[in-house]
Amino acid sequence: MIFDKQLIPKNIDDYNSLYNHSITNPEEFWSQVADSFLWKKKWSKVLKYDFSTPKFEWFVDGKLNITENCLDRYVEIHPEKTAIIFEPNYPENETIYISYKELHSKVCSFANVLKNNNIKKGDRVCIYLPMVPELAIAVLACARIGAVHSVVFAGFSSTALSARINDASCKMIITSDGSFRGNKIIDLKSIVDEALNDCDCVDSVIVLNRINSNISLNNNEKWWHEELTKVSDDCPAEIMDSEDSLFILYTSGSTGKPKGMVHSSGGYMVYSSYSFKNVFNYNDNDIYWCTADIGWITGHSYIVYGPLLNGATSIMFEGVPSYPDFGRFWQICEKHKVNQFYTAPTAIRALAKHPLDFVEKYDLSSLKVLGTVGEPINEEAWNWYNENIGKDKCPIVDTWWQTETGGIMITSLANVTKGKPTFATKPMMGIQPVLFDENGSLFNENNKNGILGIKYPWPSIARTIYGDHERYKNVYFSAYPGYYFPGDGAYRDDEGNYRITGRVDDVVIVSGHNLGTAPIEDIINMHPNVIESALVGYPHDIKGNALYAYVILKNQSKKDDIRTEINQLISKTIGPIAKPDKIQFVPGLPKTRSGKIMRRILRKIACGEKSEFGDISTLLNPEIVDEILKVFKNL
Ligand code: WT7
Repeated sequence: MIFDKQLIPKNIDDYNSLYNHSITNPEEFWSQVADSFLWKKKWSKVLKYDFSTPKFEWFVDGKLNITENCLDRYVEIHPEKTAIIFEPNYPENETIYISYKELHSKVCSFANVLKNNNIKKGDRVCIYLPMVPELAIAVLACARIGAVHSVVFAGFSSTALSARINDASCKMIITSDGSFRGNKIIDLKSIVDEALNDCDCVDSVIVLNRINSNISLNNNEKWWHEELTKVSDDCPAEIMDSEDSLFILYTSGSTGKPKGMVHSSGGYMVYSSYSFKNVFNYNDNDIYWCTADIGWITGHSYIVYGPLLNGATSIMFEGVPSYPDFGRFWQICEKHKVNQFYTAPTAIRALAKHPLDFVEKYDLSSLKVLGTVGEPINEEAWNWYNENIGKDKCPIVDTWWQTETGGIMITSLANVTKGKPTFATKPMMGIQPVLFDENGSLFNENNKNGILGIKYPWPSIARTIYGDHERYKNVYFSAYPGYYFPGDGAYRDDEGNYRITGRVDDVVIVSGHNLGTAPIEDIINMHPNVIESALVGYPHDIKGNALYAYVILKNQSKKDDIRTEINQLISKTIGPIAKPDKIQFVPGLPKTRSGKIMRRILRKIACGEKSEFGDISTLLNPEIVDEILKVFKNL
């Protein structure tokens, strides 16, 4: 165990006093937490910050390398302990167990490959890989030499990929010849080839042989395994300043351009590690499994960094929950005697639709803690998870956080604080949530809905948007000066538990994926027969939310073809996850006098509401509401 016992609450009283300490003396508290890590040089000041610039510096002047904290110190303590269990897509293929010693060696070797290919501290490296151990190795190898990794989820299209490569001017991309997902084989390399047609910044490409596709490589491209034969596994860790960037990870926003959230080295290390330990109540020999992809922040913080910083055993799963059948998750839980299991409400809802035989076939008695992340969990899904997976004996932690926050912010702590269905519950140590009313005034009453804000910095807050600090300021720090604004609504009960009620901006969470509506609208509008479109979310049984597109056409013929073409366009430019479930052709859109689309009304119509649209007198064209309703009825 790396943290001092005093810093790990055992029960609700401990939590209350530690939480109080963390918010009354934050610098003292975080300095105690940070003392558990290997620093090359201690910090001179715990925190310097200014919400108006905005600027946040944690563990100022501290020097460290996060990979020494993930790997080197555990090679000393338990070299043979398994760091990563790799469970492949096909259950009949071999599981791979990688010890701390082996992982250290693989990371150092690949770090030398990066150096041989001219990658230096501060260079940006794009990683576009399936969920194989080499993905974690590539991430850690970048961190080893101080290169900034930018992992792009390997389900994104070539256009989305090239936009991200160009935004960060990545010098290198690391990819594979292909990937296995369920019964599909995906040709990742041609997606990369297409993307690279639009990227001048990339000097070299490293390709992992995953599917034995027999492709031949271009001039500046090299096979991962061939590069490895040229290097040793001795690679000293680069000395990083606390505030040096560790990685960039893109998240969508309400304009077309994705936001490259930049995370720091020191603060991110301290927070991802400390939150992992406390939220999941991880104990030394536990087997922990988070089903997310490393392409999302959940995978960064709670498959790679958080677990490894705690010397834990973390499972990486290459496949999907439905292959070869809907029992795959539970089969893996039985096989590896998983103790902590962390997944998304969407996955739970999808699995709950299938017969319980898929669950009951397996022995799930090893499970001690269950978690959810990415979107609100409805009561029905919570109950199914609790009864059938947790057998009513595992606490469920409903963890609210964001790409921007770097780590879990509001949650129950397993076996320490109490969960409450549909509530994320209480703030983590050091986190100070507040609620604002619709006029922007802070309120302290309970049993009320409001807009969530965070009052004080925490170590893993994103430091900027890559290349656009002004946008960072506008999006997160302008709505409520002096506070961080996450874009979510929340309700607080009498006991101070928070329930996240959903986005208050134009972002829709579909199957736990954060999708900005504006960039998708821009794509729909690119169709030659489209005049204008508006996209909203509406509740969906499995996905949580699905997308509903209202589209104005130039001419009304061949509507079905246009639907297909719009979907193809979206798949190609963003990825299949962004395709709307419904596309409705309408004669017009409700607009305010300043020309802003009134999405509130469109949301209500998509939800099936027929009247009660509130005040529509401010609309430029109030009659359009009835016209849209008419089309809606005829669908
Ligand atoms: C948005 C952030 C955090 C990693 C995965 C998503 C929603 C996240 C919860 C939860 C209700 C949640 C919020 C948030 N969200 N967790 N437990 N309950 N809503 O990261 O893509 O950055 O999305 O996901 O709306 O703002 P992300």
